[in-house]
Amino acid sequence: MIRQLVYRSGQLHEFTAADMIRLLQTSRTHNAGSGVGGMLLLRDGLFMQLLEGPMAAVEALYARIAQDPRHCGVQLLSRRERAARLLPDWRMAWAEAPLGDGALDFVGIETDRAALRVLEDAGADAVAASLRAFLRGEAVEACGVGGLRLVHGR
Ligand SMILES: Cc1cc2nc3c(=O)[nH]c(=O)nc-3n(C[C@H](O)[C@H](O)[C@H](O)COP(=O)(O)O)c2cc1C
Repeated sequence: MIRQLVYRSGQLHEFTAADMIRLLQTSRTHNAGSGVGGMLLLRDGLFMQLLEGPMAAVEALYARIAQDPRHCGVQLLSRRERAARLLPDWRMAWAEAPLGDGALDFVGIETDRAALRVLEDAGADAVAASLRAFLRGEAVEACGVGGLRLVHGR
């Protein structure tokens, strides 16, 4: 079994593209060493992140991320065990919405289209559905921690 965790937060630090590239590079290197993977999403100044991997590694990383002063209002949306990872091939995939031709903050950083396709193909999987809803700017239903409903927006 692996641990799968999803949280949402608000961007606090004014990331430049270089800052964001550095964050992703550091994350991917670090995650490769600890067996953690997942996906980081950004839309309208809000982050959503999926973390999955060995329980201790995911929990230690989440504790560290939650203290990171570059974001605020970290809200855990889901924490559960699952038999297999949703995104087995990614140390930390990236997507910024709106997808398509919308105005993005980080035009230089490639959205990971292959990871998005995996989310699409996961159909009714609750976590995949939450990530897709977040990217579309829809209300995001929390799952696994009491069913609170979070409305995406400022
Ligand atoms: C939105 C967000 C997502 C992050 N995701 C990761 C991640 O997946 N892996 C990682 O190692 N650090 C991630 N970080 C950075 C960590 O908070 C932390 O700065 C980094 O792990 C280095 O920790 P250390 O200085 O204690 O070694 C993220 C930070 C933010 C703001």
